Amino acid sequence: MSDVTEQAERRRTFAIISHPDAGKTTLTEKFLLYGGALSREAGAVKARQDRRSATSDWMALEQQRGISITSTVLQFPYRDSVVNLLDTPGHRDFSEDTYRVLTAADGAVMVLDAAKGIEPQTLKLFEVCRDRGLPLLTFVNKWDRPGKDGLELLDEITDKIGLVPTPVTWPVGIAGDFRGVVDRRTGEYTRYTRVARGSTIAPEEIIDPDRAAAEEGAAWVQASEELELFDLSDQTLDVSSFRAGTTTPLFVGSAVTNFGVGKLLDAVIDLIPPPAPRPEIDDRLRPLDAPFSGFVFKVQANMDPSHRDRIAFFRVCSGRFERGMVVTHDRTGKPFATKYAHQVFGQDRETVEEAFPGDIVGLVNAGDVRVGDTLFVGDAVRFPRIPTFAPEHFAVARVKDTGRYKQFRKGIAQLDEEGVVQVLRDADSGDQAPVLAAVGPMQFEVVSYRLESEFGAAIELTPTSYRAARRTDEESSPALRGMRGVDVLRRSDGTLLALFESTYWLDRVVAENPELRLDKLVAEGDLHL
Ligand code: G4P
Repeated sequence: MSDVTEQAERRRTFAIISHPDAGKTTLTEKFLLYGGALSREAGAVKARQDRRSATSDWMALEQQRGISITSTVLQFPYRDSVVNLLDTPGHRDFSEDTYRVLTAADGAVMVLDAAKGIEPQTLKLFEVCRDRGLPLLTFVNKWDRPGKDGLELLDEITDKIGLVPTPVTWPVGIAGDFRGVVDRRTGEYTRYTRVARGSTIAPEEIIDPDRAAAEEGAAWVQASEELELFDLSDQTLDVSSFRAGTTTPLFVGSAVTNFGVGKLLDAVIDLIPPPAPRPEIDDRLRPLDAPFSGFVFKVQANMDPSHRDRIAFFRVCSGRFERGMVVTHDRTGKPFATKYAHQVFGQDRETVEEAFPGDIVGLVNAGDVRVGDTLFVGDAVRFPRIPTFAPEHFAVARVKDTGRYKQFRKGIAQLDEEGVVQVLRDADSGDQAPVLAAVGPMQFEVVSYRLESEFGAAIELTPTSYRAARRTDEESSPALRGMRGVDVLRRSDGTLLALFESTYWLDRVVAENPELRLDKLVAEGDLHL
């Protein structure tokens, strides 16, 4: 095995996804505690929370809206592995930037609040993970507080997401009366111990079944019956169906008191697959030990208001990346020096000296680099572009103070490049009044806020009556433009999009005009090329 393959084998690159408040930040902190990286990094998580009151632009929006819009990565060693934990923006609505982050992950931990289960706004994100076959571990959090019935939560996962949950640990005692968990792999019972705010690793008190039965009484009987049910229904951990994205191993715990965190982190190492060779655009697999290649999944400007710079995050797909290496940028064909390569977490930056498949690197001031681009050394490599989603919300943007028009244009161009929204234009109103298209309405708020705070260009957003979009072409456009309730606009990548006032109307136009080109903008099909 080469050094690169060996290093890749040690990597676990994953994200935590959840509805805001389910416990993602708490769990991240606890992973760091278990990874022994607490002293430096957990400070960073905490600092991030403290900064909610600081003056940074990003954090101010976070504070106002209770959302997190930065995207970062955290690396720490655990056992013999190197863990890369991607931080996804915690929007309430589905948003494309969360999805893009997930294209750089080999798996995810879905955190559910035991009292809330699967919440409607987060459903789409979970569905998208399932559709992509991304391996998902499930952590049912906050079992120390009153919540739903355990079996009811399992049914929700099956009914709403279509994944079969396979409980690995199962609670004794209902939510709010947490006695401990049984690990179905060993049959061991670990009693729940409450540590004050969980500042240390939870002590594990393992108790033999006879004693547990005597001490836990009815709670033990109920858990035993439930466990039998899982055995009978074959709901048991299965690595291959987990990796294929059809079953989700489930763990129960309480992140705030550290209970169940160790077993979950072990599962990240034992179950989430290490980086695999990535398919290139022609479906050839790029071997892990081929020369360096990576793909850009996130570009973010102005993350740090004191620098006002632009960071392009890429995931290493093959080879060894060394800082200072000159790589080729596939879209421009130009060489690119990587002198300023960092690992970024919150506002802390650390220079990266080398990185291996699965690792994430942030390039500072990577001028032309955009989301979906490939970087490589040696023979040309191109990975598929990151799919875009069919937008469902459309609004016209106009600058309030026409004296700030230049800044408005510049800001729109920047946010378009970052992929914060899609920008559409028609021949008449063009740059004066572009139509912004989004998958989730939260994207509009981010645009308004950033245009005003970073570019000094406050905008007025007028919602349109359009609700659905399809890709069309020059030939079909005149007929479509002539129809009631339809418009055709050009997206900044050149694609012509036909907009419809309802999906009902769209279906009718499609049915009655088979000669018109109206392609679906499905996630897989629209490769933004
Ligand atoms: P998020 O990143 O997903 O938005 O959630 P976060 O970790 O910030 O947790 C949201 C709230 O839930 C926090 O309370 C946190 O302490 C609490 N919490 C997380 N895990 C558990 C758990 O296992 N049990 C219980 N009972 N609570 C949990 P907060 O009041 O908003 O903040 P704080 O004052 O506690 O920091």
